[in-house]
Amino acid sequence: MKTEGGTETAKRRAGERAAEEVEDGDVVGLGTGSTTAYAIEAIGEAVADGLEVQGIPTSFQSRQLALEAGIPLTTLDAVETVDLAIDGADQVVDADDPGAARGALIKGGGAAHAREKFVDAAAERFVVVADPSKLTDRLERSVPLEVLPDARPVVADRIREAGGEPSLREAERKDGPVVTDNGNLVLDCEFGPIDDPGTFASTLSSIPGVVEHGLFVDLADAAYVGSEDGLEVRE
Ligand code: 5RP
Repeated sequence: MKTEGGTETAKRRAGERAAEEVEDGDVVGLGTGSTTAYAIEAIGEAVADGLEVQGIPTSFQSRQLALEAGIPLTTLDAVETVDLAIDGADQVVDADDPGAARGALIKGGGAAHAREKFVDAAAERFVVVADPSKLTDRLERSVPLEVLPDARPVVADRIREAGGEPSLREAERKDGPVVTDNGNLVLDCEFGPIDDPGTFASTLSSIPGVVEHGLFVDLADAAYVGSEDGLEVRE
């Protein structure tokens, strides 16, 4: 029998704990990725037991998972509020130093950060689900940028001027670039450690042709960090 590894156990704990936050009547933003998938599965089980919720998917992937789990879906323009969003992250700042921006995130490992950002931002409460490998003192992974296809060379030049190194994200099958759910491309941009994520986020947003970047600053309300032994809630 296949056994679940430590990271999978951690992801499952985080996802399932976040799903417990969902209350009857809630509208829930459904993030993208392997950790959120556990939350979607658990919400689906609660729906089968009678919980009434509506989900707003952030990607084709989360839409498919939600449909398979039996979660009724809606859209942002059909609801008055989004009560809760549950979403994963590639890095989460877990340091109190003000320059580090506690709770700031890098997202976009699944190329879904544009939709994730406006759904997560619309929510009354946004809970990040993660395993301990995602925690960091400083954001330092490459920052994904969703860019309009025709704007790619211009954006790449501006990233180099800002001290970064852009690379076009390739599909795993190596048969072409990753194309987002919105029909755009992804540039993964290496900048090294990011000291002031808020200011840097504004710089990236101001580049013409950038649809959205993967820095999420001042958006998350809490991070649920699963582990093999249990779960910690970081506020
Ligand atoms: C998708 C994301 C994901 O939430 C992020 O990549 C984390 O994924 P996982 O839970 O699979 O580690 O930002 O765009």
